[in-house]
Amino acid sequence: MKTIEEIRADFPILSRKVYNRPLVYFDNGATTQKPLCVLDAVREVYTEYNGNVHRGVHIMSDLTSEAYENAREKVRSFINAGKREEIIFTSGTTGSINSVAFSYGERFVKPGDEIILSTLEHHANIVPWQMMCERKGASIRVIPVNDRGEILLDDFLKLLSPRTRLVAITQVSNALGTIVPVKEITDAAHSAGVPVLVDGAQGIQHDVVDVSSLDCDFYAFSGHKIYGPTGIGVLYGKEKWLTELPPWQGGGDMVDKVTFEKTTYNELPFKFEAGTTNYAGAIGLAKALDYVLGIGMQYIAGREKMLLAYATEKLSEISRLKIYGDSANKIAIISFLIDNVHQYDTGMVLDKLGIAVRTGTHCAQPVMQRFGIDGTVRASMCFYNTTGEIDALCSGIEEVIRMFS
Ligand code: ALA
Repeated sequence: MKTIEEIRADFPILSRKVYNRPLVYFDNGATTQKPLCVLDAVREVYTEYNGNVHRGVHIMSDLTSEAYENAREKVRSFINAGKREEIIFTSGTTGSINSVAFSYGERFVKPGDEIILSTLEHHANIVPWQMMCERKGASIRVIPVNDRGEILLDDFLKLLSPRTRLVAITQVSNALGTIVPVKEITDAAHSAGVPVLVDGAQGIQHDVVDVSSLDCDFYAFSGHKIYGPTGIGVLYGKEKWLTELPPWQGGGDMVDKVTFEKTTYNELPFKFEAGTTNYAGAIGLAKALDYVLGIGMQYIAGREKMLLAYATEKLSEISRLKIYGDSANKIAIISFLIDNVHQYDTGMVLDKLGIAVRTGTHCAQPVMQRFGIDGTVRASMCFYNTTGEIDALCSGIEEVIRMFS
């Protein structure tokens, strides 16, 4: 078992200074930092064996294709999907959701149908559905949340109807940290014969994810939120859906036979991977998954729980600070505002103290509207953060309060 110092040493960027102060990186919800082994794996693709996947008879293409398909198998086992055919590499969560919204809409949605989302959704799990609903004459129904930022399950059950075509729900709120009971939601939706897409962008990196026991129909996540490269993501889809859905993009590799009269499509998963994929990203992502498995997802979940408890206690002691979102089940995110200080001012002062937090609506404007605010300051922590860094955040906030009082 590595010590926290050893873990932090795996991430070169964590030892850099900003404005001559040690970097305190609390914007892991936006993107996570990368361990050296991930950077090495991507570099190795380009320095050792780069060739386009599935296209050549030469050794370079073979080696890259093998590493790429091994990456697919790594993702499959990481989320415990049944088959490698159910793992599609995409550009990220946004790409995954847009693709399902388009293809599912084309195949299954008709005028008068409804899609259920929740108040907690990130724009990436709202706008693609709105675009699809506009095209198909369907509409969106929204599950409300209580004052703690928790989903109201009874209201969800009331929204389910014969018109419901799909439920698309986040696993974790990026703005408040709420862990959503996606298993209960999936079971209830399935009882009504409705499939479920889970947006795992803020869920995959914090605890074990098992799509087989969750039984969701689609699960989307991004590589860069789980210590992997940017520009790579995953769409898991049950084989029965992926077989029925039309491809969302046409191009090389997704075809079987092409004539000007008619094209037949490649088998799964290639039917959904048109063009040259981000194979270097996929190989880097597989290394990131290896890395977190080495640390242990249970260790990660436990350490982040400890950091959340510590941060909640310390920040609650600051009288002019209000925390938004205190769900009984939360990841290590604290969204807050300081009385009479604009969130951007807080963020900018903290930045000059070397502390990186996110400010604004966090691409989740409906949640902000629910709480009647135009944004928050968000500290999003992960397992490589320390209680010392939380102390630094608290001192920084005291400094903000002094400056603005
Ligand atoms: N969705 C990312 C965040 O929550 C960018 O910050």
